[in-house]
Amino acid sequence: MRLFIGSDHAGFSLKEQVRAHLEREGHDVVDVGTHAEESVDYPDYARLVAEAVASGDAEYGVLVCGSGLGMAIAANKVEGVRAVQLMDTEMARMARMHNNANVVTLAGRYTEPDTAYAIVDTFLGTAFEGGRHQGRVDKISALEHKA
Ligand code: RB5
Repeated sequence: MRLFIGSDHAGFSLKEQVRAHLEREGHDVVDVGTHAEESVDYPDYARLVAEAVASGDAEYGVLVCGSGLGMAIAANKVEGVRAVQLMDTEMARMARMHNNANVVTLAGRYTEPDTAYAIVDTFLGTAFEGGRHQGRVDKISALEHKA
């Protein structure tokens, strides 16, 4: 899969580890940064990853900040993006099956690497169920257009 990944300084370490894991799993990963521990602003990286997903350049996005929360809030401002902050694999399954989420955000300060690997693997490996959930996701899209 073609993925975009990004983080701020608080997510940098986990982002590096998750990127390496995703590459080991055979994914095509574009890393938009940050590339160092210096303080940066998470919305800048959320925007780069979210816009890649929204344009179709990436199938999915992965974002890491300290809590994952700011990244989710920012990414969800981009039309077509459904970003979810995940702490466990069960919610990763639900986010894909019911919500057709296309961006996962992780908490660099609270999530261990092995847990993060399991979350992203589950997220990427779970299909959207469609059916009754499609209409609900369509209603989320309608909110973006004030329809
Ligand atoms: C940075 O200190 C922190 O606020 C940021 O990484 C993130 O957790 C925001 O939601």
